[in-house]
Amino acid sequence: MKMNFLEKMAMNNPIRFYIQRYVEAPLLKKLGANVEGLDVLEVGCAHGVGTEILLNQWKAKKVFAFDLDESMLSKARTRLDEFGSDRLELFIGDVTNLKLCDDSVGGVVNFAAIHHVPDWRIALSEIHRVLKPSGQFIFQEVTEQWITRLPYSVLFKHPRENRFSGKMFITELERLGFEIGGRWVERAGGDFIFGVAKKLESK
Ligand SMILES: C[S@@+](CC[C@H](N)C(=O)[O-])C[C@H]1O[C@@H](n2cnc3c(N)ncnc32)[C@H](O)[C@@H]1O
Repeated sequence: MKMNFLEKMAMNNPIRFYIQRYVEAPLLKKLGANVEGLDVLEVGCAHGVGTEILLNQWKAKKVFAFDLDESMLSKARTRLDEFGSDRLELFIGDVTNLKLCDDSVGGVVNFAAIHHVPDWRIALSEIHRVLKPSGQFIFQEVTEQWITRLPYSVLFKHPRENRFSGKMFITELERLGFEIGGRWVERAGGDFIFGVAKKLESK
């Protein structure tokens, strides 16, 4: 589900960019995120600030970044126009139907996109399918607790059925064949989760 007008304003804004660069990315690093030298898929890249972090700070070899929303992707294209096709591919895509082969990417990164997906379990299973064994799925997510909290529940538009708590998200990752151990944390009393899950060699 695409963002509504108000959420686009909230996400395309210097405060969001600051938090992503200087709070979320360092926390994910602390949890063990490492995509240096790898081909990385970024889901729901929107304005491309996460993509920029992956390319500049985290030294990914190449990033394949996509979003459902062309209006967001055009912002990412403008932001990232210094990067050539050797380091970046930006495209329209749906995380529940990835046009990629099994075991084909070295890492997958999700900054707050999956809570926008009605069937979030299918999104996680697609991420698991395309990730190479031992590859990391690095995520920052928003739980049902935040989605249903005022004023966000009124101002923003999110799928409301079948949402997840932090524990549900982690349990689903483990069921799919990810190992996560202690590499995840909740923030703001469970409104947000951050983690680094590793795809097991075989389930
Ligand atoms: C809350 S924004 C997060 C944007 C950015 N990653 C950030 O952290 O600031 C969620 C993004 O996910 C995208 N999105 C929603 N459903 C999607 C899907 N099924 N596949 C890919 N992207 C999706 C939306 O268009 C939106 O740009």
